[in-house]
Amino acid sequence: MVADALARGGETLELAARHLDHSLVDVLAILGFDRQYVSARGSYLYDADGRAYLDFHTGEGFASLGHNHPGVREVLHAALAADLVDGVQLHYSALAGMLAEELSQRLPGELDAVFFASTGAEAVDTAMKFARAATGRPRLISCDSSFHGVTLGPLSLVGDEFFKEGFGPLLPGCERVPFGDLGRLEAELRAKDVAAFIVEPIQGRMVTLPPAGYLRAAQALCRRYGTMFVLDEVQTGLGRTGRWFALEHWGLEPDFVLVGKALSGGYMPVAATVTTREIYQRAVGTLERCYVHQSTFGRNRLSMAAGLASMRVIDSERLPERAARIGAVLRDGLAELQRRYEMIKEIRASGLMIGIELGAPSARVARLNWRLMHLASEGLFPQLIVIPLHRDHGVITMAAGKNDVIKLLPPLTLSESEAHSFLAALDAVLADCHGPASRNWAIVRDIATATLRRRARSTSR
Ligand SMILES: Cc1ncc(COP(=O)(O)O)c(C=O)c1O
Repeated sequence: MVADALARGGETLELAARHLDHSLVDVLAILGFDRQYVSARGSYLYDADGRAYLDFHTGEGFASLGHNHPGVREVLHAALAADLVDGVQLHYSALAGMLAEELSQRLPGELDAVFFASTGAEAVDTAMKFARAATGRPRLISCDSSFHGVTLGPLSLVGDEFFKEGFGPLLPGCERVPFGDLGRLEAELRAKDVAAFIVEPIQGRMVTLPPAGYLRAAQALCRRYGTMFVLDEVQTGLGRTGRWFALEHWGLEPDFVLVGKALSGGYMPVAATVTTREIYQRAVGTLERCYVHQSTFGRNRLSMAAGLASMRVIDSERLPERAARIGAVLRDGLAELQRRYEMIKEIRASGLMIGIELGAPSARVARLNWRLMHLASEGLFPQLIVIPLHRDHGVITMAAGKNDVIKLLPPLTLSESEAHSFLAALDAVLADCHGPASRNWAIVRDIATATLRRRARSTSR
């Protein structure tokens, strides 16, 4: 089968357009991202022509340990070779208990009860259900601009209408407050009918850092009004921000911590909802309710093995420390570029979670183009940098959505020289975009013009 897949590599995009998501295939073609990647190792993907691409996206944190980490692969091979028992729902494997033990040893306070699932969204859903059941309260509060996944439960929390259009009605009882606004949070909590406040410690969409003191004060408010304080660390957890968990930056002791992405080791779907034994018991801890919240693949052996192997790699390679150190190299380099290039408006960073916010250029023609791009599509402008980084320098980054932010989530295993390669590539692209003879503007302007024409055609029909 693997040989078949390699032999049919040339048909990859055609197959995807026919049977998977046609519109994503179209978007990849427009952006020039329609490469046929055939292998991946560490910080790099390789295309069919053998060209290497430095991956500063890692599938939004999926490959946080770098691609195909041999330490995780070895453990997966061993788990397969051992013919372990799996999928018997009325059964527990030692692997699941060991992974739960590892997670709770890395977390503060009494967080020692774990529910395993396959995706981050499922981990969020679990916290929503457990918080409601444990408190007997109906309402759930999240933040504007937050992201928690796209199944119906988490989507009801997401702070961005763009993801929700056409999918309503969503869950009743879900309300939002601005990230960083304690007054609005307290106003919601005061009625004492809120089961949980669910928040990312650093918002992943645009890499928005919390204001000083916000998260500790939010935790205290939750305690005061009997609301569960839920930290969604699906993206920030497991070393990404320079600590095992972002909560360590502020000494937080939440009621729930949600983990996903990096726990996969870049191989297996796995996510975890970690809470206290007391909350777990209150939610589903009676003999009658022991089976009301389940997930067929939740504790499967390969996911548990991948999770354990990933945590051991993060520990033995000291990846949180490395993320802090290499993150500082990138931050300093980006600050230096910001001094030289007006289009870099702001750098926001914590470890290897970095957002580069772009601003409008001052030159007249560039500013007109900037306006045209925003008219065509919010979120198009960063492609001015993202496209040539990929096309000319083999560096994969991403535009963060309907905004002017480029988001960087490189592997936690990134080396200092790879960080410098990225900075040199970005320097060259920015120099081109700020220069009078840039061809990059024309490419994105053409995308904008085509988008506006398409829109005009569809509204005139
Ligand atoms: C903070 C956060 N929570 C939840 C999710 C959902 O995770 P998944 O895509 O595995 O369902 C994501 C995914 O990007 C996320 O960033």
